[in-house]
Order: sequence, then C-alpha cells, then structure tokens
Amino acid sequence: MNRKPRIVVLISGSGSNLQAIMDACASEQIEGSVVGVISNKADAYGLTRAGNAGIETKTLSHKAFSSREEFDAQLAEEVDAFDPDYIVLAGFMRILTDQFVQRYLGKMVNIHPSLLPKYKGLHTHQRAIDAGDSTHGASVHFVTPALDDGPVLVQGAVSIDADDDADSLQHKVHKIEHIIYPVAMQWLCSGKVKMANGRVYLNNELLPIEGKMYDVN
Ligand code: GRF
Repeated sequence: MNRKPRIVVLISGSGSNLQAIMDACASEQIEGSVVGVISNKADAYGLTRAGNAGIETKTLSHKAFSSREEFDAQLAEEVDAFDPDYIVLAGFMRILTDQFVQRYLGKMVNIHPSLLPKYKGLHTHQRAIDAGDSTHGASVHFVTPALDDGPVLVQGAVSIDADDDADSLQHKVHKIEHIIYPVAMQWLCSGKVKMANGRVYLNNELLPIEGKMYDVN
C-alpha cells in the first residue's frame, strides 16, 4: 500500500506558509501530511502553530554549532528521523551547505518572495518597487546549491500599485504565497511534478524556467 507522502517543514519565524500547508493537508487539498516541523529559533511562532495542530516539533539552534557543516549534519539527522518524502523550507533563514542540498535534491522546495529569476536574496519587495516594476510575486522552486536559483514549479503574481510600500506589498505577496505553496505541494505529493536534469516537469511536460504562472482567477 502506498503511504501518504510525509512532509517536514523547516522554519525560522511566523510560519504562515507552514499554516497554509498544514491547513491544505487537513482539508486534503494536499494528499500528504506534515509529520514534523523544525525551527532553528526557539521563539518561532510557527512552532506554536505546529503544536496547535498536534504536529511534532524540534528546535535546533545553529548557535550551538561551531560550523555550518556541523549544524547541517545534525539538521539532516533530525530531518531524516521523520522519514520524510519532501522537505519544505518556509521562511527558514539559513544558507544550507551543498552537502545538505544534495542529500535532498529533487525533494526539497523553498518559497521565495519574488518572481524568480528576479530579486534573489533579501529585500525583494523594496527592490521591486525601486525598479519601478508593475508586478511582483512569489516563486516555489526546487532547492539547488546556488541561493534562490533552483528551477521553479509555480509562481504567483500581484500588482504593484502607486500607493504600495514594502509592507503593503509584502502583505499581498504573502497572500499569494499561501495559495501557491499548497498547489506546489499537491503537485509533488501526487507525483505530478518532478525535477530532472535541473528542470521541472509538470504532467511530464517541461516547464519554462520561471515555472507555471498560477492563474488567480
Ligand atoms: C515568506 O515571505 C517567504 O517567501 C520567505 O519567508 C517568508 C516566510 O513567512 N521565504 P512565513 O514564516 O511563512 O509567514
């Protein structure tokens, strides 16, 4: 009998994307279950969200380790203890070693608050405003060794209006994130989407490098 895909979520903060994914598992929009949540910060609100949903949590502070390699090696042990099929980065504010990334290649995804390949890294909302862009958004991508560089599964776009500032834009982007992350996780859990040779295939069709644009309508 096929088991339900098991998802481990790594967080550092609020965990609103974690919440969206847990809710989508509960409503069976995602045919999978969140079996564990790991935070590198003890005060991450996402841990409370997971606890409220009855999901096992772990805190692993990077400060207790003298190198990135040692932290990542312990993190991999904690992740593997949950026997996951997929690893979800949801606001996990750590740069991962190549070794960690390679271990979960094709099984680990991240959400980034920009329409990749635009605005890798931080302060994406302000950068989109400063550039005079009319649209912005978020991307769910497979994690590969280079930062925010892996092939994209799905993007969601929002408009940048004249009265938007970085805060209002972040709010809009969060809303679309909570839609597209569950969509991407359902594709993964149902086997609809795969990474092969550094590219993404949805229903066996090669997606463009910026993934599938999610149609909000
Ligand atoms: C999101 O904006 C995501 O794009 C970025 O970190 C933020 C996490 O927010 N990677 P939350 O903790 O899920 O609320």
